[in-house]
Amino acid sequence: MSVKGMADILPEESWKWEKIRSLFLENARRFGYKLIETPIVEYADLFIRGIGDGTDIVDKQMYLFNDKKGKRLVLRPEGTASAVRSFIEHKCSSELLHKWCYFGPMYRYERPQKGRMRQFHQAGIEAFGVDDPALDAEQIILAYGLIRSLGIESVKILLNSIGCSACRPGWQNALVDYFREYHQELCDNCKRRLDINPLRILDCKVQRCSEIAKDAPSGRDHFCSSCSTHHNKLKKYLSNINIAFEDDPMLVRGLDYYTKTVFEITTDKLGSQSALVAGGRYNNLVKSLGGKDNPATGWAMGIERIFLLSDIEHTSEKTVYFIALDKPSKIVLFKLFASTAKKRSCLFDYKGGSIKSQLRRANVAGAQICVIMGENERVTGTLLIKDMKEKKQKLIKIDEFGEIL
Ligand code: HAM
Repeated sequence: MSVKGMADILPEESWKWEKIRSLFLENARRFGYKLIETPIVEYADLFIRGIGDGTDIVDKQMYLFNDKKGKRLVLRPEGTASAVRSFIEHKCSSELLHKWCYFGPMYRYERPQKGRMRQFHQAGIEAFGVDDPALDAEQIILAYGLIRSLGIESVKILLNSIGCSACRPGWQNALVDYFREYHQELCDNCKRRLDINPLRILDCKVQRCSEIAKDAPSGRDHFCSSCSTHHNKLKKYLSNINIAFEDDPMLVRGLDYYTKTVFEITTDKLGSQSALVAGGRYNNLVKSLGGKDNPATGWAMGIERIFLLSDIEHTSEKTVYFIALDKPSKIVLFKLFASTAKKRSCLFDYKGGSIKSQLRRANVAGAQICVIMGENERVTGTLLIKDMKEKKQKLIKIDEFGEIL
């Protein structure tokens, strides 16, 4: 049994996985994002400081363990803090715009259900160095275009700003005043959130909490001019290129590092696991993790959710299947197989046996062409070529083989 919430990717479906990954990398590279790989294991402190105490991820979901020297390590629950750690560690210049992308497994101890796993995969992008709403717009366009190219329709882009360290405290105070009035009716989690991070109450899924949250004060009444302008410009950039979005003043995120823009691309086809992509701006994170002041923004896409919804088609290369009917033919045919496999997808039937059983296996393997050699073919220097789709066969000279491929 595999560990609960952690799944195998079997050969029958790995083509789809590979295709999603390569479409992601292709789309990201077109916008100038270059691939980085960071370790799966990081120091726990990175996420505690990065994502924030009091968030579900840090409080309940991290896979924590001590190494042999007692260092507190964690299986990474997300990619942003790791990217920031790497950005600082490698002293990347704050003069330049750095655009990074990644694809890999993340770990969160959550209750598994459709579209929610304990080992899941994210494709993500992060850009460091610019506080420009046009860059936020670019990232949303990239995510949306990718989703469409994966054959996923009817998604919604939800957009909000959650302000910055200058104006958010005013909004938080207004939220605390408002929710205090309903203190007795809030769930236990939200009672705690009221002291630690009142914004998170806006995201509570408990029915009574979300009813109360509907009339909570909006951040829009508290934003500084920099945050308001940023948000309005972002909306303009998106509208100008006809990207439809919903401006949702109640949208907040479960991670504490965001400033200004937050967004999600959602579906109604996966029940409560509706977010396919989520992200936003995090202008203070590089500094708070020990780097220079450097604005940044990014998103991550949940690959398991994309996998469930994407209807991309399998376009496999034609496989050539080699069938030898006796031992001397196997030696001759194996040579042809080895040279063909340098340029084409090939399979050799090592199990052998009758032509019928070998053809059956060729069929199961999805082979398009079978190359058959028995005693007759060997002594006459020929090959029997069987087209599995057309169900036709013909005898050719061995030296004509290159032409039929
Ligand atoms: P997040 O909202 O925690 O953000 O995760 C991003 C996406 O990962 C979600 O929208 C969802 O598609 C997927 N996801 C999250 N948890 C699971 C799970 N247990 N099973 C399956 N899929 C899951 C982040 O992780 C941020 N680092 C995003 C970001 C990047 N913000 C800025 N840059």
